Amino acid sequence: MKKIVIAIDGFSSCGKSTMAKDLARRIGYVYVDTGAMYRSVTLFALNHHLFNEDGSVKADQLEKLMPEVNISFKFNTETGRPDTYLNGVCVENDIRGMEVSSHVSPIAAIPFVREALVAQQQRMGGDKGIVMDGRDIGTTVFPEAELKIFVTASAEVRAQRRYDELKAKGAEANYDDILKNVQERDYIDTHREVSPLRKADDALELDNSHMTIEEQNAWLMQRFEQAT
Ligand code: C5P
Repeated sequence: MKKIVIAIDGFSSCGKSTMAKDLARRIGYVYVDTGAMYRSVTLFALNHHLFNEDGSVKADQLEKLMPEVNISFKFNTETGRPDTYLNGVCVENDIRGMEVSSHVSPIAAIPFVREALVAQQQRMGGDKGIVMDGRDIGTTVFPEAELKIFVTASAEVRAQRRYDELKAKGAEANYDDILKNVQERDYIDTHREVSPLRKADDALELDNSHMTIEEQNAWLMQRFEQAT
């Protein structure tokens, strides 16, 4: 069977990563979470005090330090999923908290950050057989991807899912703060100048507000089989 590139884009917290990971595992493809890469640069910037008090980024300083940012993934046999590493240290938990979530959008809007990460993503997908999720995979990273999915769900449904996820991990969570964060990120992601979030013309839309995980997985498998 021919190997293809599968691009999964969509809004934050709409379950893209879970479905992309599950699909990759089932079909034996490599999974790449590009959001984790933008989150890792954000963690690096937080660790190096590269945010101003108003939340803007000290971009000149970050640009000088970008060559020191080394992001990689290692498969975790216990969870069956890849963990994200920043300069050799596993940051899988650190990058998922609210601190990083509330600083990531301005980082993802910086052209030199996007250029560096997109180049790395294109190298990772060079041999195909990859499921990549993000915001600009079908439009910018792999405009020639054989299968493109654009995932949506209402902001309220997404905030509730994120709240449940954080609570299940025993983390602090406030639904209203999360909803605000989801809405702010939607706004910044769709309005930024470089690679704004938008559905590629040839992407298939999946609104999963009222779908179970099983229904989504079945929908995706069907699309995969049609594309290969
Ligand atoms: O997917 P996730 O919510 O973890 O992504 C975190 C942030 O990274 C998003 O809010 C978005 O600003 C940014 N992002 C991006 N392009 C991608 C993936 C993520 O701009 N391909």
